Amino acid sequence: MQSIDAIKNLYDQHFSARKHAEAFYHVDCGFLDDGVIKQTEALFNIFSSGSIKGNTLLAFKNGPTIHELLPACELFKEITVSTVTDDNASELKKWVGNEPGAIDWSFPVKILCEHEGNGEKWMEKQETLRRAIKKILRSDLTNSNPLAPITLPLVDCLLSMHYLGCFYLEKNSYLCGLQNITSLLKTGGYLILVEALECTYFIVDTCRFPHICIDAEYVGEALSKAGYVIVKQVKIPRIDQELFETTDFTAVLITVARKEQHLH
Ligand SMILES: C[S@@+](CC[C@H](N)C(=O)[O-])C[C@H]1O[C@@H](n2cnc3c(N)ncnc32)[C@H](O)[C@@H]1O
Repeated sequence: MQSIDAIKNLYDQHFSARKHAEAFYHVDCGFLDDGVIKQTEALFNIFSSGSIKGNTLLAFKNGPTIHELLPACELFKEITVSTVTDDNASELKKWVGNEPGAIDWSFPVKILCEHEGNGEKWMEKQETLRRAIKKILRSDLTNSNPLAPITLPLVDCLLSMHYLGCFYLEKNSYLCGLQNITSLLKTGGYLILVEALECTYFIVDTCRFPHICIDAEYVGEALSKAGYVIVKQVKIPRIDQELFETTDFTAVLITVARKEQHLH
């Protein structure tokens, strides 16, 4: 089992934001429905339910994608995005600043706006998201304050998007990672936790990245130990098997949980 320091090094040295985007996020990748549309639609339904509100949202992400933030960009005034490598953070900053050479994320934005029936408004939506993202930070997987040395006021909402399961590879460290991000959330605030189920790896370029193999039951137990009450769970079974040699998850689980108590 790789240590958290080894995982951190693996990402620093081998996770290319651009190669990740090229591998998984283009129209012909064969993964569009399972990988982008269904997951983001589920997030649209969750955020539009009206129960998740506030001014601040903090997202913990593995990679450089932005589409999962689209459902939240009109609800929160301040979105902070945290990701694990300098390369991801720098690519996200370029995109938010609309700089030349930034990764072009217009394709998922267009598709998702079309699905919402607002296809012609994709540029507005993209700009709304750019304006809502106020900070892009690098998260430190090994620190109990994952944003150290920065301390943020507690946030109203956390979004953990394919984050914990990619880095914390055994159940005790997964719980510890969950508790660490939870310490940044207000009591009564909501966590939206997105995890790939029964996943053991994914490949970007030629590098294989490990993943904790967990099921929905374990996610529920960890959330309860971290002081949450589960409000809703959506399981999106994987239909498309085309990229199975690239990543072996069988479903994506999206859990909405409310922080009931501050445990540490
Ligand atoms: C690199 S992360 C996804 C990162 C996320 N898109 C981001 O930029 O923060 C990979 C993990 O998400 C899962 N996954 C789910 N949908 C995916 C997709 N469309 N593309 C890549 N990985 C996906 C993989 O199985 C793996 O567990």
